[in-house]
Amino acid sequence: MLYLNYPSMGVPDSDSLKKISSFIEKLPVNIKGAAEDYAIELVQCVEDVREKIAEIYGVSSKNIAFINNTTEGLGLIASAIKSSGIKTNVLVPDIEFISSSLVWSGHANQIDFVVTKDGKVDPTGIYRELTKGANNILSMSSVQEVSGYRFSFQDLLGGYQKKENEFWIIDGIQEAGVLWRDMKQDQIDAYIVGGHKWLNSPFGLGFMYMSDRLLQVIEPPFKGYFNLEEPDGGWVAYLESRNHQRSQLLDQPLQDGACVFEPGGMVNAIGAMMIGEAMDNWEKFGISNAENHVLELRELFQQRVHLGNEFRLMPKNEKNWSSILTITSLLGVEFERILAENLAKRGFKVSLRSVESIGGVRFGFHYTTTKKDVEYFATELNSILAGIREMALPKH
Ligand SMILES: Cc1ncc(COP(=O)(O)O)c(C=O)c1O
Repeated sequence: MLYLNYPSMGVPDSDSLKKISSFIEKLPVNIKGAAEDYAIELVQCVEDVREKIAEIYGVSSKNIAFINNTTEGLGLIASAIKSSGIKTNVLVPDIEFISSSLVWSGHANQIDFVVTKDGKVDPTGIYRELTKGANNILSMSSVQEVSGYRFSFQDLLGGYQKKENEFWIIDGIQEAGVLWRDMKQDQIDAYIVGGHKWLNSPFGLGFMYMSDRLLQVIEPPFKGYFNLEEPDGGWVAYLESRNHQRSQLLDQPLQDGACVFEPGGMVNAIGAMMIGEAMDNWEKFGISNAENHVLELRELFQQRVHLGNEFRLMPKNEKNWSSILTITSLLGVEFERILAENLAKRGFKVSLRSVESIGGVRFGFHYTTTKKDVEYFATELNSILAGIREMALPKH
């Protein structure tokens, strides 16, 4: 069996799972034996992971918030921007994953879809729309889930000056964990990442980066106790003290940072620890090594696979390659299903995905995928493709 379905869901690392299992097994003893409320220790685990994410991305931990999933992060930001009174004329590529537009319905003045071609989100098309001046929110993924096209914000920024009220809200779930991004250099205002794909962490926690300029203009939808600055003497002292009145807390200042967008109650420490493991594993492999490895695998795959005139891979331009690959059949979509079924029979996990007239058999190479895996996959794939050609093309 060769698992290549990372664009749908990642697979938790077994050593990381052992660590988490041992943590979970020890929980009853640790909770009962804790000198102070154990919640404080769980909060500390979450804070350590926040620091780790910030360190990897070279940003301040104040700019990192935990979210349940990508859609929630996108939705929180959409509703906060709407409540702030900022204009909400949203621009979304037409092949974008559902959430990038859906979260804005009911929040946006208007949602405009940029027409794309062959799975490619052309920076010049986005540039053209943004320079017209009507749209001030760009809501899109850094890597397209169906075509695997990786967008270059540097190409968009060449000669373009972002407007004062313009915000780029970027879904990073299809790259984070294998492909790094410089959020500051790319002038991204929010980078939202669920944990369950390339981070190999399907435990109901992800994270988002929020820029200072975005944090300055939006507010969370409500306050929870963990969103507040700690009362004098800390939370334990506050809870034990008989002299406090609830009303005093209503004016307690919010913490300074993206964490005010978190639920503000008990934390998901297990989810955070798995994200921490993903970050550690990525770092151990080497952040840039991971990217080089994945792109080398793609190169190798392209050398080995015989697509002929009947099948095609998106995107063509190496600069826009990601860890996602999609094979389109030019013989008709029914042959994509046949291809997917045959791959499944031979033990390869892939998925079928389509949007706006593009799509095909989608799979991905993680940094844990090896060259041997790719060679084996290409050989088996070639034999299936040959069989499909035989079946589909007229005999001479
Ligand atoms: C680009 C993209 N964004 C978001 C999602 C969904 O993420 P979540 O379930 O974390 O909202 C997916 C895939 O399911 C996706 O491909």
